[in-house]
Amino acid sequence: MPDLEALTARASEASKLLSGLAKEKKRILVVTHIDADGLSSGSIAFQALERIGAIASVRALPDLDGRAIDALKNDKFDFYLFTDLGSGLIDQLTAAFGTNYLVVDHHQLSPDLYVHPNVMNAWGFGYDGGTDASSATMAYVVALAFDEGNKNLSPIAIIGALGDRQDNGPGRSLAGLNRKVLEDALEKGLVTVSKDFLFHGRETRPIHEAIAMTYTPYIAGLSGAKDACLAALSNSGFVLKEHGRWRNLAELSDPEKQKLLEILSSFASTDGGGSAVISEMIGEVYSLREEDSLTPLHDAREFATLINACGRMDATDVGIAIALGDRDGGLSEALRLIGEYRVKIGKALQMLQTPGERVSTQGDVAVVVGDEFIEERMTGSISSLLASSEKYKDKMVLVRARSGETELKFSSRLGDSFPKEVNLGLIMQQAAELVGGVGGGHSMAAGAKIPMAKRDEFTRAVLKKVAE
Ligand code: C5P
Ligand code: C5P
Repeated sequence: MPDLEALTARASEASKLLSGLAKEKKRILVVTHIDADGLSSGSIAFQALERIGAIASVRALPDLDGRAIDALKNDKFDFYLFTDLGSGLIDQLTAAFGTNYLVVDHHQLSPDLYVHPNVMNAWGFGYDGGTDASSATMAYVVALAFDEGNKNLSPIAIIGALGDRQDNGPGRSLAGLNRKVLEDALEKGLVTVSKDFLFHGRETRPIHEAIAMTYTPYIAGLSGAKDACLAALSNSGFVLKEHGRWRNLAELSDPEKQKLLEILSSFASTDGGGSAVISEMIGEVYSLREEDSLTPLHDAREFATLINACGRMDATDVGIAIALGDRDGGLSEALRLIGEYRVKIGKALQMLQTPGERVSTQGDVAVVVGDEFIEERMTGSISSLLASSEKYKDKMVLVRARSGETELKFSSRLGDSFPKEVNLGLIMQQAAELVGGVGGGHSMAAGAKIPMAKRDEFTRAVLKKVAE
């Protein structure tokens, strides 16, 4: 059972500790992950610290491992605040930093760490960290313990939760602790909630482009195919242009939305997955009232996608700047980066279309060997996209890429129609430990980094655990 009272009490302790450090002018480093939830949680933590006058910096890493911990230690900060990473490495963190660190996180961890003095993790308070509470939400709870005025950071926490695809309440809604954050944002008039199509570019793109550029849900024949979308809609007599200008999804009338849904439904497969695809197309939309509706920042899901792209393109500073409010240089740079990011993803997916040894299906697992063409930072994006595609929706996707000269990075996701109950976080953690690597995550999404020489042993261990 979730225990909000215990969580609030823990957050209050954490805020006292951090306020004390701020008063003593100690140097605090916020260390976070590079994806949307990582950049959001790091930004919330950093901003809350700045607001109490702390001497704080923030840094985003693609992964935390022994080497990264050594490098952080060498920088000799007085205190390290980890968000969205660290739960699987508590012993190493204690060895490196003693008691001078705090992990604020939502990844699965061993229950004996629930009450660890240096850990504040959603699981320890009865929340499912994969669905009820993002890291950004956890950081927000700490920020609120500093000052109720930090309620104006609630939109960033919502962005983090959406970035981690925690919109898995009814009708693609936020639930659990994330819903509480949404309530704060509504109370402050910072967000509006409506029901609409969930395609990217809902307010900013021509309708056929918005449908084509969205990969979740994946609509066979339309996703990724702008011309096919244009043809399908025009042939059905759908009014795509008004006074020479392309219309967007947000301006359609209710009867038009109904008609569009019918057209799109005819493309969704009829093999039993169709209704799931349809239910993924429409849901709760979160609009950020302070953002310009002509930019992707107005829609909280698109905001998340934008900063995620910054992280994946090795420009975490740009993603953090946007989360912290930069709407000038940062935004135009991010828009450029997301364009490049889409091209990169498109190329990698293209490579996977061509038959060869890059993808092989072994039982319930689709193994992608991306050593030569997938960058380490892109593995999570590729595995997420593949697992949400029609082709692999009943598979576990396991993507492999090089990490430096001696290691490999693995990223795994479960498709929504995967036929069995498995916990990827545990599987990746245990298989990685077996070969001297580190791994972990959530039940539906997890990753690992292992020595290159152990690649076959690791893959075999994963396949065996999935088959059990
Ligand atoms: O590190 P982190 O928790 O932020 O991992 C986020 C990744 O896991 C995202 O790529 C997100 O798509 C995926 N995820 C998911 N379902 C969840 C939680 C996370 O697919 N319930
Ligand atoms: O890297 P990737 O996006 O596949 O990671 C999926 C999830 O697993 C993320 O939440 C990530 O933070 C987590 N993870 C982890 N420990 C690792 C690698 C990934 O907890 N060593």
